[in-house]
Amino acid sequence: MTFHAVVPAAGLGKRMGSDFPKQYLSLNGRMVIDWSIQALLNQPGIETVTVALGREDDLWPTTKSIADPRVTSVAGGAERCHSVLNALQDLLGRAAEDDWVLVHDAARPCVSRQDLSRLMELAQEGTGGLLGVPVHDTMKRTDETGSIIATVDRDCLWHAQTPQMFPLNVLRKALADALVAGVTVTDEASAMEWAGYQPRMVEGSASNIKITRPADLELAGFYLAG
Ligand code: CTP
Ligand code: MG
Repeated sequence: MTFHAVVPAAGLGKRMGSDFPKQYLSLNGRMVIDWSIQALLNQPGIETVTVALGREDDLWPTTKSIADPRVTSVAGGAERCHSVLNALQDLLGRAAEDDWVLVHDAARPCVSRQDLSRLMELAQEGTGGLLGVPVHDTMKRTDETGSIIATVDRDCLWHAQTPQMFPLNVLRKALADALVAGVTVTDEASAMEWAGYQPRMVEGSASNIKITRPADLELAGFYLAG
């Protein structure tokens, strides 16, 4: 069984509001993206990491990860799904069609070794899966004015995280077909669902946050120090 990782890192981090993309912010003495990539490289079984970068990116050469021979970079695209697809296409030239690929956000630096191991073990029992955590808050649906129209049953409702792990070529095809069909895919699992698969939800940890807004950086620093 061979595993590879793909790291979409071509976003601009608009919600973060910093002068440069959030994946290059410093976090406990290391860049966010270096934490994310090192977590993957330190995981037994993961052989390579393919990073998708923004076209104007001049900060990647300042990372620690660029010096690792297992790491390759490719150009990203307009949306996350295009970035992932570019990386999968490049990886397919260097890997076997049925190798497993873990797609992991550059902006998720706190993923733990235990959660990675559990995902790699459980997702390979089917056609793949993803890390997530159950929803604990009461969920409401509103109309456009903000008035509540329903309380959504939170049983069996999950927050989807990354990594999301699927067979390389099955995922590449699902993503490519979904894009051609004009379907909005916000994560890899939604492309797989659209293609008719039922990805497995693997319970992870609430600490596997995506750095989105400034307060998230402080929280990630706390988790990484712990
Ligand atoms: N991403 C990407 N290519 C894009 C957009 C996003 O590779 N065209 C990556 C980001 O770099 C990030 C991950 O997808 O690692 C998750 O996206 P998100 O958290 O939305 O990051 P940004 O798009 O950078 O942030 P924002 O939406 O606030 O601008
Ligand atoms: Mg975004």
